[in-house]
Amino acid sequence: MKVLAIESSCDETAVAKIEGGGDSLILEKNAIYSQIDIHKKYGGVVPEVAARKHLETIIPLVDDTLGKDKLKDVDYLAVTSGPGLITSLLLGMTVAKTLAYINKLPLVPINHMEGHVYSNWLSNDELVKNSQKYFPSLVLIVSGGHTELVLMKGHGDYQLIGQTLDDAVGEAYDKVAKMMNLGYPGGPIVSRLAEEGDDKAYKLPRPMMDKDNYDFSLAGLKTAVLYTLEKKKNINKKDVKDVCASFQTAVTDVLVHKTIRAVGEFGVKSIMLAGGVAANSNLKSRLSVEAKKLDMPFFFPEIKYTGDNAAMIAAAAYYKIQNKQADILQGKEIFNLQPKSNWQLVK
Ligand code: KG4
Ligand code: ZN
Repeated sequence: MKVLAIESSCDETAVAKIEGGGDSLILEKNAIYSQIDIHKKYGGVVPEVAARKHLETIIPLVDDTLGKDKLKDVDYLAVTSGPGLITSLLLGMTVAKTLAYINKLPLVPINHMEGHVYSNWLSNDELVKNSQKYFPSLVLIVSGGHTELVLMKGHGDYQLIGQTLDDAVGEAYDKVAKMMNLGYPGGPIVSRLAEEGDDKAYKLPRPMMDKDNYDFSLAGLKTAVLYTLEKKKNINKKDVKDVCASFQTAVTDVLVHKTIRAVGEFGVKSIMLAGGVAANSNLKSRLSVEAKKLDMPFFFPEIKYTGDNAAMIAAAAYYKIQNKQADILQGKEIFNLQPKSNWQLVK
């Protein structure tokens, strides 16, 4: 089965083609056009600019990805339908809907966060071969807009265990970077500087770490960083690295502590990491150490699949179709599909 997927929920225009079957998942094409350089100068994503750029890039990107065979061997089209910026989602969805209708192909809407979860299947052959062995899995989803602990009981079967009550992890990284004028997106920059800093230099809070639930709150930690910076008159390079390290360790402490506690409570068979912040090496290595202590398999996506891409959308679509969980739209009903900017994976 071959699936062509389109992703345009934020500031990446992406198209990918995957072939799935039995216990194999082969990524045939994976094209991404990132707008980061454009949004950098504004210090964040400007929705209007993002939508215009998607409009310019999406058709050439689809054309390049399909090559001369066009849609000849494609069985299904998949498209990210939310959550995300409505104007960005509309672009990818309009192209996907038009392609599907004209070529009489079925169209499958995919939740962007579910795509992030399936980036693990793109990166780990063992998961593709023996998925069932690793369910239920505890998935920590950490991105620019989301922070969720999800119990994945099987393909497409999720239970929300906890979530952030305010800022998402990636968002907190981005805001802390902004406070020190480090650039956008802040996550990779803060994380790189943290490696050279002393994480004990500043005493920062671990919000809700010992609360008897699996929710998170990062706004207080972010404010604590702001107060720390305001208290210091002159901030030199070493101070910046120390603040980054102290902040990163505080965030990782909370994420790891809560994830490992949930592992005990829910009797899971594996742990997975997903979302843009899954690129963070501190988080990966600390989770990996804790998982080893419990003799628990720990999966994380390869760096190239942590950020937004269409390969993860194609992979999620493949498993949903295989497991008869997909919402398959055909003919005129394709045009009933609308973007859902706040589409929650699980409530
Ligand atoms: O999943 P993603 O590409 O977009 C959303 O769906 O939100 O995540 C982007 C977020 C940004 O906030 C970015 O700063 C963060 O992921 N990020 C990181 C790292 N790489 C990306 N945060 C911490 N450490 C990193 N290495
Ligand atoms: Zn994302």
